[in-house]
Parts: sequence; C-alpha cells; structure tokens
Amino acid sequence: MFEAINPTFWQGKKVFLTGHTGFKGSWLALWLQSMGASVKGFALAPPTTPALFNEARVAEGMDSEIGDIRDLAAIISSMTAFNPDVLIHMAAQPLVRLSYREPVETYSTNVMGTVNVLEAARQCSNLKAIVNVTTDKCYENREWVWGYRENEPMGGHDPYSNSKGCAELVTGAYRSSFFNTPDSAALASARAGNVIGGGDWAEDRLIPDIMRAFEKRQPVVIRNPLATRPWQHVLEPLSGYLMLAEKLYTEGQAYAEGWNFGPRDEDVQPVEWILDHMVGSWGAGASWELDTNPQPHEAQLLKLDISKAAARLKWQPRWSLSQALNSIVDWQHHWLDNRDARKQSLKQINKYQSGSPLDSINH
Ligand SMILES: NC(=O)c1ccc[n+]([C@@H]2O[C@H](COP(=O)([O-])OP(=O)(O)OC[C@H]3O[C@@H](n4cnc5c(N)ncnc54)[C@H](O)[C@@H]3O)[C@@H](O)[C@H]2O)c1
Repeated sequence: MFEAINPTFWQGKKVFLTGHTGFKGSWLALWLQSMGASVKGFALAPPTTPALFNEARVAEGMDSEIGDIRDLAAIISSMTAFNPDVLIHMAAQPLVRLSYREPVETYSTNVMGTVNVLEAARQCSNLKAIVNVTTDKCYENREWVWGYRENEPMGGHDPYSNSKGCAELVTGAYRSSFFNTPDSAALASARAGNVIGGGDWAEDRLIPDIMRAFEKRQPVVIRNPLATRPWQHVLEPLSGYLMLAEKLYTEGQAYAEGWNFGPRDEDVQPVEWILDHMVGSWGAGASWELDTNPQPHEAQLLKLDISKAAARLKWQPRWSLSQALNSIVDWQHHWLDNRDARKQSLKQINKYQSGSPLDSINH
C-alpha cells in the first residue's frame, strides 16, 4: 500500500539543491549521494559551528558552491551551467526569532531568493521537476485542533512564517504563469513540520538547545513547554520531497501543487513530552527547567493533515517520535565520542530507507 524511495530513479539524476550546507540540506545531499545522484549544491557557508555539513564531510560527494540566492546573476549562472533534471529549493532564513530581529533579510532571502531561484529554473532546458520547500507555518494559524489541509489560506504571524506564506504565493504565480505546460518543468511546494535529527546546531531550536545543555550537564531552559508541534525526524519529510520529485519528473503537472508532510497524530506532542523522553534516554546530567522571561508570540498549536500525501504519493511517516528521538541520542553520542559522523548519518539513512529497525541505543 505505502511506497518507499526508489533509488533506481535517483541513480545518475542531476539534482540542483539550494541550502545544501544547512541541516536538512546536508541530510538530503548525503541521501542523494548514497543513491548515486549527481548533486550540485548552492548555499551560503554553513549557518552554524559545528555544522553537519562539515562534520559529515558532505561536500566530498558532490559539487558544492558557496553563493547567495539574493544574487540573481549568480544563481542563474550556477544553475544553467549545471542544467539539472531536478531542482530542490530549501535555502532560507528558517528561524522565527531571528526573523523578528532581521525581517528585511528574512524576506529578501525567503521571498526574492525564491523568485531568483525560479527565474534561474526557467532557463534550464532539461529541468523536469521542482520542489520548493516551505513549512507548516505558511498556513494562517487559527490555533485550532484540526490539521491544516493543502487548500487552506496562507498566512503567518511572524516575518519567517509570513515570508514562507509569500514564497508559497510566488510558487503559485510561477506555476500558473511559467511552469504550466506538459513541456515545462512541474513545480510543487512541500510543507513540513518541525524536523529533528542528529547534527542540528541551530539557535533557538528545541533539540539543539537540549543537546547543548545536556553536553554541558546543565538544565535546558524551556520557554514554551506546552507548545505542540508536528515533530518528525528529518528523514521523514526528505523522503516525501524525494517521492514528490520523482512523481513530478515522471507524471508532470498532475502533481504540481502543495503537499503536506507531517507526523502521525500521536506524534504531535507538547515540548514537555520531548523533554521528558530525552531526559530519560540521555543518561546522567540531563534535566530541564522553565524560562520565566517574557517571550515573543509563537503559535501554540499547529498540525498538518497528511491524508493527501498518503493517498496520492503513498507516503507515510516511518519512525515514531520515540524512535526519532532515540536516533538523535544515538547520533549525538557517536559524535561526542569522535566517531565518523558521515558514516553514522549514512547508516541512519540506510536504516530508514530499508525499513530495518533502529539499533538500541549504544553509547
Ligand atoms: N528545520 C525545521 O524544523 C524546518 C521545518 C519546516 C521547514 N523548514 C525549511 O527547510 C529548509 C531548510 O531548513 P534547515 O532547518 O535546514 O535550515 P538551516 O539554517 O540549517 O539551513 C539553511 C540553508 O539555507 C542557506 N541560506 C540561507 N540564506 C541563504 C542565501 N541568502 N543564499 C543562499 N543560501 C542561503 C544556508 O547557507 C543553509 O544552507 C528551509 O527552507 C526551512 O524554512 C525547516
């Protein structure tokens, strides 16, 4: 009934990936490399130190270019020289709190950067499939208990969420104006929830904050323990992007629309559930406490309806939230022990792809 990634499809495909130096981009670049795709990345330097991109030596198996998507000429020249079969656009300023401090930079990267990437795509003669990665936060959040469906209005309270709502509107306009014939590339957008996984060092994200505190044997200070998010392991939405890209490539316009990739209902859990699980599985030195300072507005409740991806792409989440959290603890312990992060990441990708069970935690 449900399908898996098709490695044969990716073998030898030319994939242009923006944001390959970031957290999700690094995992995706490794996955594509492992299936034999020819990958060209375009992004600014890794956004954190350390970064998965460096720790897992992601550049080793691909053509990696450091560049800015706000520079139209640069992205056009890079993409047209490579002439990809598939484009996956995930370069962005992805942080809500940073977007309050730097709204102009957030909009210029997330909105005009997307325009520039799609302009470059118009000039690539072999391109057949484009996936634009946005977020669950692109929806107008009504703080209700139901999951958002793909046909609900775009919105966004804070500059980050709103910029991604705008990027969705840009995608819609480019689809109906330029990518609208059987001969043009098919353009879809993908909306995923909060991703978690080994090797994330971003600021103001729950798992990296937890890991930083646990490593120092300090309590992690939490601002919003009751906030509920669609948590999912990073490989879950990435598998959705890959399955969607394959359908766009082989079936064309029938799949050129918005798609949600979120967790199962039982894995939409409050922050405190994650904390308690992580404290339990990390071992000595792990604890958390409440941050009592006033905080900027953040959505409390956000859930995606994933029935469309299940019905039409035959995609479904594979790992439960507990399995995802265990895989993170495992990855992080390997890294702290100075073991090969590239090997460990590829091993987790392989396990996910083959559907074999995760090893028990082995510190
Ligand atoms: N991490 C999450 O929980 C999550 C959830 C939903 C959606 N997303 C989306 O997934 C994508 C990747 O997110 P991530 O978590 O890997 O973020 P990240 O910060 O780790 O990576 C962002 C990437 O974008 C690149 N980038 C930023 N500004 C750029 C610019 N002006 N020009 C070129 N490259 C630029 C960075 O260099 C990096 O490669 C983003 O589009 C984000 O909005 C992330």
